[in-house]
Amino acid sequence: MSATAQAQPNIALVKYWGKRNPARNLPATGSLSITLASLLTRMTVEFDDSLSQDELRVNGAAAPAMLPRVSACLDHLLGERRSPAAVNSDCNFPIAAGLASSAAAFAALVVAASRAAGVTLDTQTLARAAGYASGSAARSLYGGIVELAASDTEVAVTTIRAAGEWPLEVVVAVTATGTKQLSSGDAMKLSAESSPFYAQWVEQQDSDLAVARAAVSEKNFDSLAAVAEHNCLKMHSVMWASRPPVVFWNAATINCMETVRKLQRQGAPVFFTIDAGPQLKAVCLPEATERVERALRATDGVIDIMRSPLGEGARLLDGS
Ligand code: DP6
Repeated sequence: MSATAQAQPNIALVKYWGKRNPARNLPATGSLSITLASLLTRMTVEFDDSLSQDELRVNGAAAPAMLPRVSACLDHLLGERRSPAAVNSDCNFPIAAGLASSAAAFAALVVAASRAAGVTLDTQTLARAAGYASGSAARSLYGGIVELAASDTEVAVTTIRAAGEWPLEVVVAVTATGTKQLSSGDAMKLSAESSPFYAQWVEQQDSDLAVARAAVSEKNFDSLAAVAEHNCLKMHSVMWASRPPVVFWNAATINCMETVRKLQRQGAPVFFTIDAGPQLKAVCLPEATERVERALRATDGVIDIMRSPLGEGARLLDGS
């Protein structure tokens, strides 16, 4: 049987950076994110005993480099005695460029694969399976504003505000389209092993999470903006101080930060965040979106702009 699921990337406002248990891919700390609506991945999974091994196509082309992670995720979800799978993924935004493509992909994969295998699993179980493949993917099972709590044994993911309850919007400034040189996982390992700031980063996450959670609960944009920018710059400081240093930004990333600072000085409700790549994500209230988009589009080095409101978690598509 075949099934198709859709999932969107999520953008962390309090970041996941580091693992407490690399073998089980358990994050060192909790994190808080927003799930997008307009950037999306659609994944079709079909189990087929006539295949000799799993197959993966991304946007119509064979994708052997990604296949081992996909196969491992399917083994984890369904056991190694499962049938081989044909997996087809279509994505409407750049892959492996710091836009959380793996989060959307693994979230869609676990939803489609469990249906295709005829197994019924609750969302928390699916989130844990996706998180085993890619820590941030656990959050894309849920919509709106999402918190992931981490313990020594497992993660627990919840929506703390539904997408429609606080209509934040995201403007993504794409400043490079190539794939990144270093995966998030490898970069995190370097940070944990060599950054003198890593221990403090881990230690301070609970207090940043508490501030962000309260800001979401009160819909206090300024407070969320302050803690999200602080947390983002702190994560990048941890990376910059690693040996060798990990710097994902380019000159246009910094130009975009200056654009956001200028908009803030003019009173626009907007803040930035940046992940393991050079793209800048500006989070704003809807009344500022047009202005933020115009300003970022006019910023030196910006190649493309994508816009998205908040959206739902991963789900089966009609007919699946
Ligand atoms: C900077 O989830 O890609 O986007 O678990 O190794 O697959 P792995 O890492 P991944 O890391 C995401 C890092 C981040 C911050 C975040 O999304 O919280």
